[in-house]
Amino acid sequence: MKKIFDKFIIALAPMAGVTDFAFRKICADFGADMVVTEMISLKAIENRNFKTEKMLREEANAIRCCQLFGHDIKSIKKAFETKLFDQFDMIDFNCGCPAPKIVKNGDGSAMMRNIEKTREIISALVKYSKKPVSVKFRLGIDGVNNYIEFAKMCEECGVKFLTLHARTREQGYTGEVDKNAYLELIKNVKIPVFWSGDIKTKDDVEYAKAIGCCGVMIGRAAMGNPEIFSYLKDENPPYDKKHAIMTHFELLKTYFHTEKTLVAYFKKHLLWYVKAIKNATETKVKILEFTTLKQLETFIDTI
Ligand SMILES: Cc1cc2nc3c(=O)[nH]c(=O)nc-3n(C[C@H](O)[C@H](O)[C@H](O)COP(=O)(O)O)c2cc1C
Repeated sequence: MKKIFDKFIIALAPMAGVTDFAFRKICADFGADMVVTEMISLKAIENRNFKTEKMLREEANAIRCCQLFGHDIKSIKKAFETKLFDQFDMIDFNCGCPAPKIVKNGDGSAMMRNIEKTREIISALVKYSKKPVSVKFRLGIDGVNNYIEFAKMCEECGVKFLTLHARTREQGYTGEVDKNAYLELIKNVKIPVFWSGDIKTKDDVEYAKAIGCCGVMIGRAAMGNPEIFSYLKDENPPYDKKHAIMTHFELLKTYFHTEKTLVAYFKKHLLWYVKAIKNATETKVKILEFTTLKQLETFIDTI
């Protein structure tokens, strides 16, 4: 296997609506070796969309990866003519999103439908990006599990590493990941492979390492639980959950410009953060009723 990382990588997976710049920074503080942004629309970058550009803010002390999606070569060329990706070390391309509105538009996991057409898009990314390009994908779509053929195409295009979420588009996030698929993939490509899917414990990490993965990505298990990175790496956490919540909230105050959007967004994170505390059900009901910053601040103080 070609080496690109000098150690086994425990990364924060890309998650739309979750891996905002503040959360990425906090996960890096807790030991994530690499963090990935939410999926970013190439079209929106081409159009210099203000909200999308804001999503590129990056302050994490870790390997910084920006995930893009789109299918228009002109957008790719234009996007990389900007300096918007300068703060990132890597560019990842989303070929796995199962959401109907994304797939209907020919993006995300729809990229696995026509490998030759996707070859042109990935080749353009490799050509125009000044950073190494990786691709994240699933087992397949529409009942066709073509992940090996798809991965080989990515490798031929000059992609530096791959991330497999071993479920089909139709599975969404349900059922079990196909553990054997990671083994098959590693056997069939020379570039490094990340495992994404259901990693929660040290044993999960050890298994991925033992079969030859170059790293793991942690998704849902990190929601409200950035401490998982310290736990998985057997390191002392730099601070406690309350401090993580306060830091997340304070940083987001510099990101959202209206009280309403900040409160609505942060309530979602707060519900994940409090999952493990006692009286969680009562607490959740209370959180759902908050409408002001003051209410959130008072609540966070009591944690
Ligand atoms: C809320 C949510 C948003 C996600 N958004 C993205 C995304 O923007 N890009 C992507 O490649 N995967 C996305 N994923 C998939 C995760 O990166 C990961 O592959 C998947 O959740 C399986 O890993 P897990 O079991 O560790 O969560 C998302 C998953 C969730 C739960």
